[in-house]
Amino acid sequence: QGNRDLAGKRVLVTAAGTREPIDPVRYIGNHSSGKMGYALAEAAAARGAEVILVSGPSSLACPAGITVTKVETAAQMREAVLAEFDTVDVVIKAAAVADYRPETAADQKIKKTGNTLTLSMIKNPDILRELGERKKHQLLIGFAAETQELLSHAQEKLIKKNLDMIVANDVTLPGAGFNTDTNIVRVIHKNGQIEELPQLTKRQVAEILIDKICVMLTNYT
Ligand code: C5P
Repeated sequence: QGNRDLAGKRVLVTAAGTREPIDPVRYIGNHSSGKMGYALAEAAAARGAEVILVSGPSSLACPAGITVTKVETAAQMREAVLAEFDTVDVVIKAAAVADYRPETAADQKIKKTGNTLTLSMIKNPDILRELGERKKHQLLIGFAAETQELLSHAQEKLIKKNLDMIVANDVTLPGAGFNTDTNIVRVIHKNGQIEELPQLTKRQVAEILIDKICVMLTNYT
């Protein structure tokens, strides 16, 4: 029987990448495995939270005792998240949401006719930014996977999306980012404070982030 300091709290976690259809058999996706988000969902549940996990396609098993809503596209993830937003205390957006989707998905499989194929892409809604505009009592935690200028890009997102905390990782580092079991992150707080964590398992990173969220919940409520 461990620490149950999230008892009575509802925590919404998004995980894995989205898939944006090109035609009935193809999609645009990314390398997100869902490991960081699932670890966060498990760590929050172990601390007594009621966890709602909204997950894109992932090969990971649905964690026991957690309500999982499976989605494919960013639009579906947005619907699932907005349906829960008013009644949750914390949102952790660990999902790698596609920034753009094909403007139209073809009804039939696209045939191999020309030498080139041009897809027109259109911007997806930024779910987290929308939550930042709507937020009342909720704590909002974002992730920033970057390949360059890690801190400045992450800080910009924290401000633009009205977040309480952002977790930045350089996905080019070995032992960090997509599909690995470990991560190397920097945590940036709303007040500008930055903390660097060493290479840790995603579960260890999740435990530390949940600790920080507990402190924020105590200070704000
Ligand atoms: O894509 P970006 O680097 O801006 O992602 C930063 C944060 O915003 C992540 O937490 C991600 O889950 C979230 N996001 C979102 N909807 C998008 C794009 C990103 O919620 N369309």
